[in-house]
Amino acid sequence: MGRPLETSSSESLTVRDNRTGKTYNIPIVDNSVSATAFKAISAPAKPNEREESGTEKGLRVADKGFLNTAVIQSEITYIDGEAGVLRYRGYPIEQLALHSSFLETAYLLIYGSLPTKDQFRVFETEVLHHSIIHADAEEFFRSFRYDAHPMAILTSAFAYLGSYYSEANPSLQGRQWQTLFTKGDKASLANMDKQIFRLIGKATTLAAMAYRIRQGRDFVIPPTGLSYTGSFLYQMDHLGEENYVPNPVLCKALDVLFLLHADHELNASCTTVLQTGSSLVDPYSAIAAGCASLYGPLHGGANEAVIRMLISIGSPANVPAFIEAVKRREKVLSGFGHRVYKTTDPRSYIIRKTADEVFKVTGRDELLETAMALHDAAMKDEYFTKRRLYPNVDFWSGLIYRAMGFPMDFFPVLFAVPRVVGWLAHWRQMMLQEGGVKIWRPRQIYVGAGKRDYVPMAERESSLVNSDPKKTPSTVPHSGMTKRTMLASYRGKSKL
Ligand SMILES: CC(C)(COP(=O)(O)OP(=O)(O)OC[C@H]1O[C@@H](n2cnc3c(N)ncnc32)[C@H](O)[C@@H]1OP(=O)(O)O)[C@@H](O)C(=O)NCCC(=O)NCCS
Repeated sequence: MGRPLETSSSESLTVRDNRTGKTYNIPIVDNSVSATAFKAISAPAKPNEREESGTEKGLRVADKGFLNTAVIQSEITYIDGEAGVLRYRGYPIEQLALHSSFLETAYLLIYGSLPTKDQFRVFETEVLHHSIIHADAEEFFRSFRYDAHPMAILTSAFAYLGSYYSEANPSLQGRQWQTLFTKGDKASLANMDKQIFRLIGKATTLAAMAYRIRQGRDFVIPPTGLSYTGSFLYQMDHLGEENYVPNPVLCKALDVLFLLHADHELNASCTTVLQTGSSLVDPYSAIAAGCASLYGPLHGGANEAVIRMLISIGSPANVPAFIEAVKRREKVLSGFGHRVYKTTDPRSYIIRKTADEVFKVTGRDELLETAMALHDAAMKDEYFTKRRLYPNVDFWSGLIYRAMGFPMDFFPVLFAVPRVVGWLAHWRQMMLQEGGVKIWRPRQIYVGAGKRDYVPMAERESSLVNSDPKKTPSTVPHSGMTKRTMLASYRGKSKL
């Protein structure tokens, strides 16, 4: 905690509050200072100061968009955005992509070390065993409209899945079951791991069912004897052929892509999972929340946006005009830029190589030439280099998915399925941290109206009515209303 200065250690920050003249000494631990230490710094309110400023209640630390706020201690993933370094549990992503597999890396992310042969066999068996879902779930998938976005289906499906597992529901199992291992309860850890096996195992099943419902295909039972990605491809593509085995080059490419997407420390969706999980809700609800967060175009939706952008550009000849439009801020170069990486995302080199392997069996994607021209033009252009905007993981991945024949709106699903692993690794770590889990409840800087008294509707002067369009409801057309209905009269019809 920050305290008025007595002695200053070299591992500390000395802060002088010029409002009061007081000096505070704030310890630096792991190259960080505690935001709560700043709360000890307070000053008397100035005359006429808004009570909402809370000056006497302590200094606040503002960080809109979490640009420099660490919310947890983690042992899972390390990123050096300046140097383009990504390591899972200390292992460079390049080595893992070359030598490991998605499921082995999943074990590494969740449990902290590479598994022995026996440990891996048990883990793989558990995950694949848990790929089957209750037959009733078919009705759930059939309840969606034929053109429902697969991410809407997947997001809902994770929350739906939780309804089957009362032992994971804190309302039924006890409000803190997920954290009880820290108090010596081994059964709670086994319960947690069972949910982890289920969620990883069933992620491909739910995703494949979302795929099949869109294609008008009946569902299949997950196969035995295939790898994780082999099983996933089988579940999407099998139409009853005998001895159906997915293409091994495509299985391997998808496995590498899954490994690269498995974790990326505290991105928006992982933070969402932890924030949601911090209320000690069940992990299915937390994963559903992560899925929703991932779907945004600034995050996992970017791979879909890249392909739409490439289609709109059309050919390499149109790249210069597109770049100029980006510079005029009329367009965004999807697949470029990253909050953490200020150089090329290390995963994008591996994905570019994987794309060539895939193109050998599928044929080159017709958008590749445009993508390469766009990439090269942006890498040379001062607008991008000055802002340190370089390709991220999404720039090339969409081209592979397209070459493999996936519809564009399925791309974010192909990101979400492997990211379930990273979300669960962080969720498990948080639940097992010493001292339990604190609910994630940030603060705000309140800049709204000061205290005012209610005015009855009949007495409201027009000067009191806000005409700012941001502060009044919009007039919206009613698409389902026909002229006939509008001309009809009926009981309860609004007189407006
Ligand atoms: C990823 C992203 C959200 C990071 O956002 P951020 O860290 O908040 O960065 P900012 O939005 O502050 O960008 C800094 C500057 O670069 C510009 N910029 C960032 N990404 C850009 C892009 N893809 N195309 C064009 N300009 C971009 C911003 O306009 C801003 O310019 P300014 O300083 O002149 O106003 C952002 O780069 C982006 O939208 N990229 C495209 C979407 C994408 O590929 N997302 C996947 C991420 S893995």
